[in-house]
Amino acid sequence: MESISKGLENVNIKWTRLTTIDGQKGILWYMGYRIEDIINAKASAEEIQYLFIYGQLPTKQQLDDFKKKIQEGYNIPDYSVKSITNLPRSADSVALQMNAMASFAATEKFTWNKQTDRDYAARIIGQMASVTSVAIRHVLGKQPKLLEPSDSLAKSFLKAVFDREPSEKEVEAMNDALILYLDHEVPASTTAGLVVVSALADIYSGIVGALAALKGPLHGGAAEAAAMQFLEIGDPSKVESWFAENIKSGKKRLMGFGHRVYKTYDPRAKIFKKLAQELNPQGQAKTLYEIAEKLETLGINEFGPKGIYPNTDFYSGIVYMSLGFPLQNNIYTALFALSRVTGWMAHFLEYVEEQHRLIRPRAVYVGPSERPFLPIDKR
Ligand code: ACO
Repeated sequence: MESISKGLENVNIKWTRLTTIDGQKGILWYMGYRIEDIINAKASAEEIQYLFIYGQLPTKQQLDDFKKKIQEGYNIPDYSVKSITNLPRSADSVALQMNAMASFAATEKFTWNKQTDRDYAARIIGQMASVTSVAIRHVLGKQPKLLEPSDSLAKSFLKAVFDREPSEKEVEAMNDALILYLDHEVPASTTAGLVVVSALADIYSGIVGALAALKGPLHGGAAEAAAMQFLEIGDPSKVESWFAENIKSGKKRLMGFGHRVYKTYDPRAKIFKKLAQELNPQGQAKTLYEIAEKLETLGINEFGPKGIYPNTDFYSGIVYMSLGFPLQNNIYTALFALSRVTGWMAHFLEYVEEQHRLIRPRAVYVGPSERPFLPIDKR
């Protein structure tokens, strides 16, 4: 029988100038810049979004122009707000983002065009920020609120969601989370979106496809699932017994651990852990942080020899919780998506503009050979 590549493991689907990963050494580069260097230099999320969309770091003037384009997207139309608020407040936040993005797919006259694609991408970053604010506020029982164009993306977003002035430390953490989740080569979500745009469907439809894949607990859904698992443990004193009963026994997978590419620490996990510490978590977030630290040690002892280490989702939930986002309705995965939308679009542009071909793989047939078809009354 012809072989198949299960999970498309080790299949190269495109070339890219955007992101590269050394999974053995645990290094992540965004267009040649190490993720740690970007964070240590206190880059703004908008600078790195510009890098992905335009292929180089912006000058001050280019950054100002880019921010204006993003801000043009904040004022999303009423129909897209309603595509969220018409659904029950118990809804999954990522599914709400999908609905709103589908409303743009239905109404925006997007056609692939090198002259206008990048302006569109900037505007979509802004639209996605307002969509995410409305989605999160909706599941929290609040009235819709769009972003105001006065501040950085991170600050405007926190202000819109929480109706308060965030501290400098909170803005920095939100900004860094936007950068850390921005791109990661071609995971399931990016690949799903690429399949959609390879058929030359519009960019919004590509984002809807990517969001659908991100939602799964083996991918972006792990951001929420990891924090949920800390919540289930409930108390640092219970970590060892929980681990023996659920993980060592093979009953469950340790969420926030393991990665198809990294066989050591995901560098983003270390940065998220540091951000969590810097935010000095209180209350429930403090308890979950203590649980996570204990679980991290047990997990590494158990799985480290197999190359299974903490991934980016292990500590991100505690950062989000410390910023005030409650652990419910898949909000943490929606925050991941708000960041990742830039990476998705950058890959779509690279693919459609420079290396386009319809993605249409084959399947190896293993069913019955030709046989007579019996009418229903003869079966
Ligand atoms: N807990 C326990 N065992 C694990 C874990 C884990 N988190 N991850 C992998 N393994 C084990 C599997 O049970 C399997 O063992 P076996 O060979 O004895 O059957 C082996 O490692 C290989 O696992 P696969 O699922 O085949 O490997 P894959 O490369 O597909 O794993 C994945 C990647 C899906 C992310 C996996 O590590 C996992 O399920 N992790 C938990 C969910 C998670 O945190 N996802 C977020 C990923 S990062 C991101 O998307 C942003």
